[in-house]
Amino acid sequence: MLVLALETSCDDTSVAIVDGTGRVYGVCTANQDLLHDVFGGIVPEIAGRQHLEQAMPLVDQLLQQTGISLQQIDGIVATQKPGLIGSLIVGLVTAKTLALSLTKPFIGVHHIEGHILSAFLKDTAQDISRWSHEPYLALVVSGGHTHLYHIPEPFKYELLGRTHDDAAGEAFDKFAKMLNLGYPGGVKVDQLSQTGQLDRFDFPRSFLTDKNYDFSFSGLKSSAQRLLAATPTPWPLEDLCASYQEAIVDVLVEKLFSAAQNLKVSRVVIAGGVSANRRLRHAAQLRADQMQKELIVPPFKYCTDNAAMIGFVGALRLLRGESSEQSAPPQARVELT
Ligand code: KG4
Ligand code: ZN
Repeated sequence: MLVLALETSCDDTSVAIVDGTGRVYGVCTANQDLLHDVFGGIVPEIAGRQHLEQAMPLVDQLLQQTGISLQQIDGIVATQKPGLIGSLIVGLVTAKTLALSLTKPFIGVHHIEGHILSAFLKDTAQDISRWSHEPYLALVVSGGHTHLYHIPEPFKYELLGRTHDDAAGEAFDKFAKMLNLGYPGGVKVDQLSQTGQLDRFDFPRSFLTDKNYDFSFSGLKSSAQRLLAATPTPWPLEDLCASYQEAIVDVLVEKLFSAAQNLKVSRVVIAGGVSANRRLRHAAQLRADQMQKELIVPPFKYCTDNAAMIGFVGALRLLRGESSEQSAPPQARVELT
């Protein structure tokens, strides 16, 4: 069972072919970072136009690369929500049109469900996926999300907590902007932190010991602004990045594993763009080993937005007999349930 998937919720145009075991046959992604970089953030109008230019050429490239024909595809999947409306529309209309013309089912997918299932993707038939029906927790940390879910059974998502203000990825990006490191900033902060001293600056850890699973990163951002205003240039970039990153990582790891302990769940997933952060992966693995929990993180290439994760959700839903209406609308903001 094979599906063709499109992901155009934000600023990356991505297409992939995936099967119902989470095996990825191919992914083609066009990155728009350079176009948005000069503006210091994503310009929705530019993102939408780029998706329109890129989507079908990428599908052609993917079919050529994998040697799979459209006739072999069993369903067409696209990210339906949440995201930038203009961007979502391009992927949705493309997927619906392909589905209609090929008389195949169309499946609209929630972007965050895709991120969660990215942890179970695999590249060959021999690779073992850790996908199972066992309960697990998923911490989704991206540019727009810092959400902690309990998943007692497949396709059931109980939100335990979320950020009250900035998302973890946003906290990285805004700090990178203050340091003039460019956009998106998370990767750059991660790189500079490698050689930095992580306890040189004392940044706040909001809600760290509170008895809830909520997050807040706006205090961290303000504290960084005050520190930079009071620090003469040239700034010690490595130490600043390492200390700032450590404040984010501490809170994420603490909340995730205290939830696993309290809910007696033995498997935890970290997904979303920020799950590519090396310090976060390392600190979470240490804690998982200490607590004898199983930590599952996506391969690096599937941490940031990609169509493979969207395809896997679509393939599983199709296997359950589900599909979406041709009238399924894009939705800018909607929680995963
Ligand atoms: O999931 P994603 O690709 O897009 C959204 O759905 O938001 O996540 C993008 C976010 C950006 O904020 C980016 O700075 C962050 O993920 N990110 C990282 C790293 N790689 C990407 N943050 C910290 N460390 C990284 N290595
Ligand atoms: Zn995303």
